[in-house]
Amino acid sequence: MKKMVTKVADLIHGGDYNPDQWLLYPEILERDAELMREAGCNAMSIGIFAWATLEPEEGKYNFEWLDQVIDRLYAHGVYTILATPSAARPAWMAEKYPEVLRVNSDNRRILFSARHNHCYSSPIYREKVRQMNTALATRYSHHPAVILWHVSNEYGGACYCDLCKENFRNWLKKKYGTLENLNHAWWSYFWSKNFTSWDQINPPMDNGEHSLHGMNLDWKRFTTDMTVDFMEAEIKPLKEANPSLPVTANLMGFYPGLNYFKFKNVCDVISWDNYPAWHEGDDQELACSIAMAHDLMRSIKPSQPFMLMESVTTAVNWKEYAKMKRPGMHELSSLQAVARGSDSIQYFQWRKGRGGSEKFHGAVVGHLGSNQTREFRDVAALGKRMKGLSRLVGSPFEAKAAVIWDTENRWALDDLQGLIQKDKGYMKEALHHYGPLFREGVNVDVIDEESDFTPYQLIAAPMLYMYRAGVAEKLRAFVENGGTLVTTYWSGVVNDTDLCFLGGFPGDGMNQVMGVDVEEIDTLYPQDANSATILPCETTRGMKASYAIEDYTEVAHLNGATALATYDDDFIAGLPAFTVQSFGKGKVYYIAACFEQSFYDDLYRNIIEDLSLKTLDVTLPKGVFLSNRTLEDGSLCHIFQNFNTNEVSVSLPREMECLECGEKITSLTIPAYGTAFLI
Ligand code: GLA
Ligand code: ZN
Repeated sequence: MKKMVTKVADLIHGGDYNPDQWLLYPEILERDAELMREAGCNAMSIGIFAWATLEPEEGKYNFEWLDQVIDRLYAHGVYTILATPSAARPAWMAEKYPEVLRVNSDNRRILFSARHNHCYSSPIYREKVRQMNTALATRYSHHPAVILWHVSNEYGGACYCDLCKENFRNWLKKKYGTLENLNHAWWSYFWSKNFTSWDQINPPMDNGEHSLHGMNLDWKRFTTDMTVDFMEAEIKPLKEANPSLPVTANLMGFYPGLNYFKFKNVCDVISWDNYPAWHEGDDQELACSIAMAHDLMRSIKPSQPFMLMESVTTAVNWKEYAKMKRPGMHELSSLQAVARGSDSIQYFQWRKGRGGSEKFHGAVVGHLGSNQTREFRDVAALGKRMKGLSRLVGSPFEAKAAVIWDTENRWALDDLQGLIQKDKGYMKEALHHYGPLFREGVNVDVIDEESDFTPYQLIAAPMLYMYRAGVAEKLRAFVENGGTLVTTYWSGVVNDTDLCFLGGFPGDGMNQVMGVDVEEIDTLYPQDANSATILPCETTRGMKASYAIEDYTEVAHLNGATALATYDDDFIAGLPAFTVQSFGKGKVYYIAACFEQSFYDDLYRNIIEDLSLKTLDVTLPKGVFLSNRTLEDGSLCHIFQNFNTNEVSVSLPREMECLECGEKITSLTIPAYGTAFLI
């Protein structure tokens, strides 16, 4: 058990609260506290964008309003998640110190505007943040109402100012030592880019160099490191004042700009902001990809709960279509986070502002100011239900299966020229593997290449194009020690600076582990078709006679592995499309082509059975998803969610007990959009 926030016994429920926008409306601030209690909320994130109110003039702090808000809420049973306000700065600061403003990739410094746009290098900005955070920490870090630091907001983007360029060069010097090393790692010999002085190097800017993929990768790595470094600087005064008050930063799921796994050590708690477009297409498919996002975020710090820091009560105003959630979806989608290991359900935003660009974004309290709206009642009902789920607080989501989704691999894939140019299909292939595990009710972690592989029995490594240093060895050791690895086409092609492995793919010795040598990959036009015939044996039991193939076919040769399927058509007819090899105590499946989904479904059904990965022997109806969290006494709480618009029944393998009401049942009926917690 690992409770994220020790002061609160229940799951955390609340949202972003911006009292700084309402100081001229004291009656509204009074009413907010009462409404929060009515809505079953127990925590608000406060002060995220409040710098201009906290420090209206340089060095002149104004905390009285914040004292009052924190105390008022606390008197109503509502704790404070206190923000550091660095995500937006006051006008006076930008006017006096333009260097705090970001320079974009067009080489132009922005005007004072919007948010999330400061320079990470600026010594002045860092100093101003240090002063502000010190003042906040001195005043509030021992306040009984304050339970967690919310550091900045949605760190993201990059700065291209002269200070950042210089820091990039220094970062490169530290990494490569010499220009010879850098030129080799980046293959700068291409198009005569050989650098002969560090000062010749610039980040990939609009009017600059983009053809050296090692450089593009390093810029992204540098930006991640700078962001983490900035966050460390933000946290220092907070921890000095009270080392035991935890910190988090609200991350953004599959956001491509940062490698979030580098935030592992700097965050005590991982939290993230989730805004799916429900009711737009197939909600059951969306539920699968959102579950994967939750799993990715949780797996940054595996075996401890994460927090859902932001979500919406109904419509998201910045989407192309600001559609409202249909009845029942609010509870279902919110509890999905809990089902995947979250200890909180938080919203953006508590109350809709009167002005500004987010005034029509869903909120618990709208412009009516009423507790009689559908949103408010939905939130209040959920708040009530959450009080009955306190046994889940601190309970880990434990997985024996993992899918590798690696952000740096994604950067490299997105950047490369080849394959299907517009979308190389990384997410599609990842979901091919994640989907069957998710739909069969197997708990999955979504890890990166640097994660520990040893806790798992099964690892799926789809399209692992880039083997960073040590990854092939870790995969080899994983299989040798008895693990089952499923990997696919376009794996082990390059090293961590995007240099191709020489002498055979998958490189770094993984071709031996897989018993397959890959010669080349063919990209199919959308109108092309191929298929593969399954060779019947114990491993392919229950699989169809053949499966359709699209997008990619590799030309691969057996070198120790056994073919389980061979191509039907084209010049590759008869060559292996799917193989297996035993290696050490484990097994590797190699999938050489992009198959239709049912291929993966059927394959994983067998693997799940072989490895006994199910924790409950149930057949799940379509659209009913199952996961589990481990309670303090070691028992599993099985969480069933019905993403159908009709009621469904599930027959249970044994008598089970409802976590919420204690009732014992042998068969389960879940209403449309319902969730059941069973032990
Ligand atoms: C992000 C931000 C919030 C708010 C919401 C709106 O997640 O963190 O401040 O802008 O989007 O959806
Ligand atoms: Zn900068």
